[in-house]
Amino acid sequence: MSASSLLVDNIGELVTNGPGEGPLGIRRDAAVLVEEGRVAWVGPAAYAPAADRRIDAGGAAVLPGFVDSHAHLVFAGDRAAEFAARMAGEPYTGGGIRTTVGATRAASDDELRATVRRLRGEALRQGTTTMEIKSGYGLTVADEARSLRIAAETSSETTFLGAHVVPAEYADRPDDYVGLVCGPMLAAAAPYARWVDVFCERGAFDVDHARAILACGQAAGLGVRVHANQLGPGPGVQLGVELGAASVDHCTHLSDADVDALAGTASTDGSGTHTVATLLPGAEFSTRSPYPDARRLLDAGVTVALATDCNPGSSYTSSMPFCLALAVREMRMTPAEALWAATAGGARALRRDDIGVLTPGARADLVVLDAPSYLHLAYRPGVPLIRQVLHNGVSQ
Ligand code: NIG
Ligand code: FE
Repeated sequence: MSASSLLVDNIGELVTNGPGEGPLGIRRDAAVLVEEGRVAWVGPAAYAPAADRRIDAGGAAVLPGFVDSHAHLVFAGDRAAEFAARMAGEPYTGGGIRTTVGATRAASDDELRATVRRLRGEALRQGTTTMEIKSGYGLTVADEARSLRIAAETSSETTFLGAHVVPAEYADRPDDYVGLVCGPMLAAAAPYARWVDVFCERGAFDVDHARAILACGQAAGLGVRVHANQLGPGPGVQLGVELGAASVDHCTHLSDADVDALAGTASTDGSGTHTVATLLPGAEFSTRSPYPDARRLLDAGVTVALATDCNPGSSYTSSMPFCLALAVREMRMTPAEALWAATAGGARALRRDDIGVLTPGARADLVVLDAPSYLHLAYRPGVPLIRQVLHNGVSQ
């Protein structure tokens, strides 16, 4: 027995997202053995092996830690006044991104680092054990590189979003900005990034610019993800599918052809490398916009993930339980579909098979709830139900 072994015992309801009952692979009266940061064994509590230490879940539910596959944590300032104006009737256009760019450029490294750590800490206390972090509020070579350098101190899932918007100083020469993004900015950012992303939307980047930037990122070894079809219909989703994106995110305004394209990747690819639709209901909540049609995607067989989109403009929440509750109440996802999307779905969106599941060999990233069932996450919205979080087997 390894000196670091830990038994999480007396679990009333264990969500594995693997073998077990129903789509969540539920096991009752279960235990999980953790060794060296990984799940070493899962089975009935009555047959649990001995371990050096024990956590008694007291009959509560245990789930994989949430995988938040879409967040913008490297920024300065907030846009509470913009939020208040929206709640008084102003529409969201994405124009406020430039306000945050100004504040971010003016901030010190330590200020940016403190914000990333504060938000990452908030999320961890709400059960998020993996959090993707994007750049995108620097938009100069130096500011994008430092944003990613700071993000990489906290997460291995970092995304270069130099193509968030065209910054004011390039407003009348977007081609030059795309050249900067594909050239020196990508070169400075790539050492700290795993992914490349583009905001493909009217008012941000058109399909030709988006394709060029994503292709350059791919050539530099980065995986592709796309902000697509958030504010209106557009080519982003199909561009993502064309380029083999791990995920297309938002998906609020979809045509039948968009849904068919996503469903086609799911049905032709059994390897888990298809394109996931990541839905971000915190953004629709905070911009008072119509929610994406999750049922249409699920019923077409598309793999769906849920994420927070945590950012100071369109969705200033770090809470996966909040997003999960919105998905159930406002997007007609079942509680089981929403939990899967917030755990295993997020893992698929990051092309990871070592997280989002509690099966032998997976990372020991898990959450003990202050509740007997995962159903309580949506049934008791706004209530702090996360009793304990293990990350890589270590209690947080
Ligand atoms: O995902 N849509 C683009 N980017 C962010 C919003 C950024 C902002 O408003 O600051 C999003 O919603
Ligand atoms: Fe976003």
